[in-house]
Amino acid sequence: MNPSQLSSLKTWFKDYVADFYTGNDDDDRNIRLKEEHTHRVCRNITDLANSLGLPSEDTCLAEAIALLHDIGRFMQYRKYRTFFDRISENHARLGIRELARARVLSCLELQDRRILIRAVSFHNAAMLPDNEPERMLLFMKLIRDADKLDIWRVVTEYYREKDIRPNKAIELGLPDPPECSEAVIRSILNHRFASINDIKTLNDFKLLQISWVFDLNFRKSFLLLKERRYIEAIHESLPDLPAIRRAVNHAVHYLDAGCAV
Ligand SMILES: [Fe+2]
Repeated sequence: MNPSQLSSLKTWFKDYVADFYTGNDDDDRNIRLKEEHTHRVCRNITDLANSLGLPSEDTCLAEAIALLHDIGRFMQYRKYRTFFDRISENHARLGIRELARARVLSCLELQDRRILIRAVSFHNAAMLPDNEPERMLLFMKLIRDADKLDIWRVVTEYYREKDIRPNKAIELGLPDPPECSEAVIRSILNHRFASINDIKTLNDFKLLQISWVFDLNFRKSFLLLKERRYIEAIHESLPDLPAIRRAVNHAVHYLDAGCAV
């Protein structure tokens, strides 16, 4: 992808998103959250691409994937007033439909279009599909890491201010008793990405976010996660329970090992 193709996608994105602001403070806050998230994911993916020494046309393609990866979030919020896929619909698929409807990708080369669609479709999947070509896999991994690195920023900023300005859209409307589910702890102790289906409380959701460390793909991602201290910040927002301490320790060791490679 060349810089001028990327820049026309950026113009389209800006106009598309502008239409979702309604003037209602709470709703606009959620739209802004996703718009800012997108810009930060673009920055993260560029950092990752640079750390790998990718050629500039691949860095542009990676940034285009980041720009459009959450495009479905805006329509999801307008239609359902939630970001919880389980009670609305898969926002990645919704995004692909929006891109098709607006014919935004028709100016791209076929190969770039294929990669972009597949990377967006799988950015939020529990696991990557088997047997993907190496080039496809590279972009699929880049967006997943770049996205997680910014969701960590969003949630840790939120956990600090949540008592002052609660936001059901971020918490997915989960109850918040001072406990967590065993299945989520078990996943972390087994160095596994926790399943969204095991999430029953807000603490489970926080632990799931910690378990994303097991799904990182690049050394630069580990380094950024460590430098930004997101795991520590999520830990601080959790109750002081032995099971939680143990799980967090596992995640931190795994993070340190990923940085050392
Ligand atoms: Fe997403």
